[in-house]
Amino acid sequence: MNFKEYIRVIEDFPQPGISFKDITTLLQNGPVYKEVINELARQLKDVEIDCIAGPEARGFVIGAPLAVALGVGFIPIRKSGKLPGETIEADYALEYGKDKLAMHNDAIKPGQKVLIADDLLATGGTIATSINLIQQLGGNIVGAAFLIELADLNGREKLGNIDVISLVTY
Ligand code: PRP
Repeated sequence: MNFKEYIRVIEDFPQPGISFKDITTLLQNGPVYKEVINELARQLKDVEIDCIAGPEARGFVIGAPLAVALGVGFIPIRKSGKLPGETIEADYALEYGKDKLAMHNDAIKPGQKVLIADDLLATGGTIATSINLIQQLGGNIVGAAFLIELADLNGREKLGNIDVISLVTY
């Protein structure tokens, strides 16, 4: 399936010069959304995964259904101040702006095999920070899965030798 034709591109959002990849047009199409999750699950079928971690908010719409499809748990990585328990936090820079990400201290048990999922790999800042948090908790990163990859921004380089899959490249 050509997923790209279901993704709407909006220029100059949220600021001039950014070509925003809007996945809401894909998500509102049930069969296409389901096929995105099925295709990621197919590509991951030989990877041993204990749980999937995904950053808010758009990482949830890929990571959570993928976790259900693979029969593993889902761990939310949230912006600072949202999680109620004890957390660890890390600063990160985005393609536009910056923020802090947080995880519950007890979200991952040391040695667990963790796949990271998000809608989009851009600069890789979000995922590199997520990896940092997961590794601080003793998690073992077994891969990173995305719907979209913006190749020009070289996000893969930030992820070192972690296996990366993406379904659509711009
Ligand atoms: C977007 C996107 C990724 C991240 C990619 O999230 O969903 O998580 O940016 O950019 P990067 O590779 O340069 O870090 P955003 O922070 O805009 O939050 P949202 O999902 O809540 O909209």
